[in-house]
Amino acid sequence: MSVNKRLYGKLPDGSEVFAYTLDNGNGLCAEIINYGGIVTKLIAKDKYGNDRDVVLGRDSLEEYLRNDGYIGAAIGRHANRIANGEFELSGTKYKVGINENGNSLHGGVEGFDKKLWYVTELTDENAVVLTYTSKDGEEGFPGKLVTAMKYSVMEDNTFRIEYRAVCDRETVCNLTNHSYFNLNGFDSGSIGTHILQINSEFYTPNSADGMPTGEVLSVAGTPFDFRAPKPIGQDIDADFEQIRMFGGYDHNFAISGRGFRLAAIAKAPESGIVMQTYTDQPGMQLYTANALPEGVIKEGTEAHIHDAFCLETQVFPNAMAHSHYPSPILGKGRTYRHITEYRFSVAE
Ligand code: BGC
Repeated sequence: MSVNKRLYGKLPDGSEVFAYTLDNGNGLCAEIINYGGIVTKLIAKDKYGNDRDVVLGRDSLEEYLRNDGYIGAAIGRHANRIANGEFELSGTKYKVGINENGNSLHGGVEGFDKKLWYVTELTDENAVVLTYTSKDGEEGFPGKLVTAMKYSVMEDNTFRIEYRAVCDRETVCNLTNHSYFNLNGFDSGSIGTHILQINSEFYTPNSADGMPTGEVLSVAGTPFDFRAPKPIGQDIDADFEQIRMFGGYDHNFAISGRGFRLAAIAKAPESGIVMQTYTDQPGMQLYTANALPEGVIKEGTEAHIHDAFCLETQVFPNAMAHSHYPSPILGKGRTYRHITEYRFSVAE
């Protein structure tokens, strides 16, 4: 086990950005930078015993500075969408940063993915803790929110992210990670043959701008039925309005059950790499990289549409507008807690 630190680059204001490598010595190694809390590499062993880096990434800090697509990044203070950037909290109306079709996406114009985080190394635990204090009124959100994310690479080949946040006023909080996975390796093309199973009976359909309509619909008989394992590509081009509108999956699934539980199992037949996602969150956005920006290049290889999938564990998008959705409200002085684990293994 080890935590290594190296200079990764400098921000335009001269601040140094570091890369931290967490290696469990047992087949899993993550590289994280403290700009955006970005997971730049996640290296797992395939069924042949070879290393594969299973996340998309970029080649330098300069390329991460305008990280269209939020590649690998930490997302906050409010992951996913808020319609018109508006919500009401205890009788007060708030207007937060608008950055997509008149709506707020992933924390607004300058979300947590574009912040420099302070790092504490926990060598004994093969972990780093990244902290960031979001000022009262930042991107229009109420209250000073102190956020900590602990990234650990555990002995059993689990990559774990534990989020905590506390605010001095009532606010909304929804944190996630936006890693783009390809379990055959970042440079291996379409994820269509990956076999995915999601522990979900219901999904939330969207209007054309990606905003949930408020409906919660059964997955049965639709392309959203991943209750039994199936190739991600099987229905990715289906003649089904919710798929056609987005050119694939870009939807929130209600994860069955409560508490910390299995949300999804993804398996790449070629590499044999299996990733189980566990979370305590009520929802998970499956995003099949339907609009990957140009220039997502790692080690010289450019990634294209459908070359990766994201499993963004979260509260449901735009939940402040739908009282039947689990709430993203964080009370004054209360602690937001969220644990998501990505557990790696191999299958034949
Ligand atoms: C959203 C997509 C968006 C992507 C990258 C996802 O979480 O749901 O609509 O394109 O993030 O920005």
